[in-house]
Amino acid sequence: MKTSIPRYSRISGTGSFLPPKRLTNDDLAAQLAADGIETSDQWIVERTGIRARHFAAPDVTSSDLAVEAAKLALAAADCDAASIDLIIVETSTPDMVFPSAACMVQQKLGIKGCPAFDVQAVCSGFVYALAVADSMIKTGAANKALVIGAEVFSRILDFKDRTTCVLFGDGAGAVVLEASATPGILASELHADGRHVDILCVPGTVAGGKVLGDPLLKMDGPAVFKLAVGVLEDVARGVLAKAERTDADIDWLIPHQANIRIMQSTAKKLKLPMDKVIVTVHEHGNTSAASIPLALDVAVRSGKVKQGDTVLLEGVGGGFTWGAVLLDL
Ligand code: UT7
Repeated sequence: MKTSIPRYSRISGTGSFLPPKRLTNDDLAAQLAADGIETSDQWIVERTGIRARHFAAPDVTSSDLAVEAAKLALAAADCDAASIDLIIVETSTPDMVFPSAACMVQQKLGIKGCPAFDVQAVCSGFVYALAVADSMIKTGAANKALVIGAEVFSRILDFKDRTTCVLFGDGAGAVVLEASATPGILASELHADGRHVDILCVPGTVAGGKVLGDPLLKMDGPAVFKLAVGVLEDVARGVLAKAERTDADIDWLIPHQANIRIMQSTAKKLKLPMDKVIVTVHEHGNTSAASIPLALDVAVRSGKVKQGDTVLLEGVGGGFTWGAVLLDL
């Protein structure tokens, strides 16, 4: 009789990349002041926790950032690019309308033939992409996946709108996710509620050789804030229950890095002290789909998050989308 061996997925390496240009709040405030837009380091720090962000040079694309992060993840996993058999990139700022950023990453890394596609769930995108890769590995459709979040949000910011342009930055984070006899990813849960498409969007498109609508980011910050704090607790409880674990089992919470106040509120609801929460928003700003893998890589490379630790990843963003992945590193 044929017995089926359980098949899981596990992160074997992480990598991240930030474009070199770093702007502090004061740098950005000075730039905005030249256009008569008033803001301050004090307001940005108090309301968001952000102190600086990185912006890519004009000729650098999401797939360029993704490739740099991927190379570091491959090296950390001691993995040859040729052995990758699945590439998923999460981005809301792709290089082109099509083809996907994942195909561009595939070409730039010289990987041939494997499936490569983008996932688009904005700031929840990395947990969406990780959950999809996990499912494909568990079913045997892939053995070794590159899962990447990469963004150049600086391209879609309205620098006349101080309520949004001070919040976002550019960057990329990547993981190698491999088939494993031991878990790995313990549980994942994804959600969306399309009734809220308007509260965070870029309401433009390309048609007839022109941009139709507005190609810059619009956000009702307080509405997003309110929804985010509610769903993040629920989805955390959801994955913990699925994995038959409790709050006490979480070694590290790595939430989407949008606002320190949202992270503090989630940690409080999960009864986690802030020293168990990985925070990079002060240095990266909100890098949308890149924020979770960026924070994960920073935490791994600093030695804070170690192999065997139980980590809760949580994302929330445009769509409205949200989700979580619980994993043993
Ligand atoms: O990544 C996807 C998920 N995104 C998020 O999670 C973002 C969620 N939202 C937020 O993080 C917060 O709502 C913001 C950081 C966007 C805004 O913080 P807030 O505490 O909700 O501020 P607010 O929008 O209620 O604005 C308070 C005041 C307003 O002035 P009045 O009306 O009180 O006179 C704003 O005009 O702050 C003013 N303001 C600013 N002042 C200086 C808004 N932006 C700025 C600014 N500098 N950059």
